[in-house]
Amino acid sequence: MSGSALDSRAPFLSPRSVRAKDAGILTRDDEELVIEDEPPAVGRAVCLRSGGRLAFRRVLEVRGSELVVRCDVAPFEERWSGEIVGCVKPRLVDRIAALDPKRWTAANWRAAVASAHLRASRRWFLPRRTGQFTVAILSPGEWPRVRAFWRRACGRELPVAAHPHQHVVGLFDGEELVGVNIQLVAGSATFSAFTLVDRRYRGLGGGYRMIAHALAVAETLGLTSMYVHINARNLPSIAAYRKAGFERKGWWSDDADPLASAERQWLVFERDLAPLTGGG
Ligand SMILES: CC(C)(COP(=O)(O)OP(=O)(O)OC[C@H]1O[C@@H](n2cnc3c(N)ncnc32)[C@H](O)[C@@H]1OP(=O)(O)O)[C@@H](O)C(=O)NCCC(=O)NCCS
Repeated sequence: MSGSALDSRAPFLSPRSVRAKDAGILTRDDEELVIEDEPPAVGRAVCLRSGGRLAFRRVLEVRGSELVVRCDVAPFEERWSGEIVGCVKPRLVDRIAALDPKRWTAANWRAAVASAHLRASRRWFLPRRTGQFTVAILSPGEWPRVRAFWRRACGRELPVAAHPHQHVVGLFDGEELVGVNIQLVAGSATFSAFTLVDRRYRGLGGGYRMIAHALAVAETLGLTSMYVHINARNLPSIAAYRKAGFERKGWWSDDADPLASAERQWLVFERDLAPLTGGG
């Protein structure tokens, strides 16, 4: 199944070397990521389009004309161990993107953010709706229910196993579980790792209700802050967390993964819990 070089018929990504800097992407300490003009092989970095930007991914495995690459930031791990991966099939358009990475990156990112805003602005013309929800902490024994919800609501398996220091907020319409928020606690902070509301119930205040409940739980646990990583185009999520008092702290980055850090797609939002403790 696995190999060490890409099928020669597949278009490879960079017709010439692409430096992260030239693509308008700065890595820490101006480190340069040079993407060679060679077929991607295991361990090498490839340049792909992702979310309107050029993204740099480390190749973990080559399967015929497909590449298995790291696709997520696995922020709950101390160091990335490679479990969260994705499969991509490089296309000709990726090659075009690499011809003028800087302009491509700037134009696509602007277009992607503008279209997200446009989609969001349609809401102004719709009547405001709210849902009749209840929220509650799900016990560890209800983890299979969380997994089943995840499968049903987004058609994929939940990409994490139960964490020893987690708490999960459930959103209910009557008896039915229609949303979850998974909090992973590390030290005095909690990471809001996953939030998902069933499509039928989005935009009705449920996401905000879960976040607010998770904040109250974090307060009772004596934690001092909650943070979350949100894709810069995910305006519903940004709005929900902002409404709950979260502030933007900057772009996500991780020394363990300079490639993903260089993309600048993920924003870090944080909520200091001290005011909550003081204000009740
Ligand atoms: C992100 C998500 C959890 C938000 O939950 P939700 O129940 O839809 O959001 P709420 O109804 O609580 O809305 C909270 C705020 O976001 C705003 N909002 C909701 N949907 C929006 C949309 N499509 N565009 C822009 N803003 C939106 C609301 O207006 C509200 O702010 P306001 O009360 O000041 O007007 C939900 O949309 C979801 O499951 N998305 C897919 C998974 C995901 O992206 N998870 C987050 C990963 S960080």
